[in-house]
Amino acid sequence: MSISKAFNSNVTSQNSIEKRLQIQRLVKATEVVTLSAGSDVVKGLTQIPKSLPPCYFYDDRGSELFEQICDLPEYYLTRTETTILQQCADEIAKITGACELVELGSGSSSKTRILLDAYQQRGYPLHYLPIDVSTGILESSAKQLLRDYPSLQVYALAGTYELALAQLLARQLPSRMICFIGSTLGNLTPNECDILFSEITEALQVGEYFLLGIDLRKPKQILEPAYNDSQGVTAAFNLNMLEHLNQRFEGNFDTTQFEHWAFYNESEHQIEMHLRSLRSQIVELRALNLKVDFALGETILTEISRKFDLNAIKQQLTAQGLLPLHVWTDPNQWFGLLLCQLQA
Ligand code: AVI
Repeated sequence: MSISKAFNSNVTSQNSIEKRLQIQRLVKATEVVTLSAGSDVVKGLTQIPKSLPPCYFYDDRGSELFEQICDLPEYYLTRTETTILQQCADEIAKITGACELVELGSGSSSKTRILLDAYQQRGYPLHYLPIDVSTGILESSAKQLLRDYPSLQVYALAGTYELALAQLLARQLPSRMICFIGSTLGNLTPNECDILFSEITEALQVGEYFLLGIDLRKPKQILEPAYNDSQGVTAAFNLNMLEHLNQRFEGNFDTTQFEHWAFYNESEHQIEMHLRSLRSQIVELRALNLKVDFALGETILTEISRKFDLNAIKQQLTAQGLLPLHVWTDPNQWFGLLLCQLQA
């Protein structure tokens, strides 16, 4: 584990930004042995049906494509959640009082600004603890926030949610709120979701808060275009996972020989994104010492995006001790934002 200070090229603000930013890199003892890197890829590509972990979407290009997805006309999720947040941020700040904001999967932290504005307007001190696997994204978005919020303190944690939640520093403000917005919860399996909720309850003290943003169930005529946009950005995002694997594990995936395929699985209430092989082919990942056979039409599952029932998720959270205090939705009830409080 190491703590590094980040530097800013602007000399006048350098000191104040440097003083207000701490980035801590979290590494599991087992990750030091890099031999295990890629074992998840080997496992996913040697099982039937094939799958790949969605974390491989997010190299630099993948993160850029995801930002573009958020602005697509068909991708209603980001703008709907943003509108809800704009309407309820002050109410959230009023309920929680001064508190530290911990954000899981912070990425560009763009929606967090709405919360920071609300806390700032109430005159509360601003403490932000973003958690992301990408140190690069953490550093660049933290520096931008520090420029825009002169009293902000950032304690960034680079690592998995599991590691970061287990190692949160003792809080310095009267309370804390863990934010998991953007419906990233939908990309976890039900079992992964249960594990995350228990890690969250372990990390919080009684009376502290959890803010959750989730995409709600709706007709597939709205859902499917959001993952099959007319400009092909989601297709490029999906196919980019193969480029990422090529680069990371000396692979020879030919992205012209795979196609994007996304559909709503109505019985599971989830969008499934796949990559479909356009011919029978063998792909090699030399760094993993792996050769993979694909039949014509064979698919790799790259992501699930679950769509939630508000009452069911409220019950699930309550059962974990996270009592929903307040739920905000949009007029179409397409997206939900839940503010929960940890009970004794
Ligand atoms: C990050 N996550 C919430 C997105 C989603 O909608 O499930 C990822 C995504 N995949 C394709 N488009 C967006």
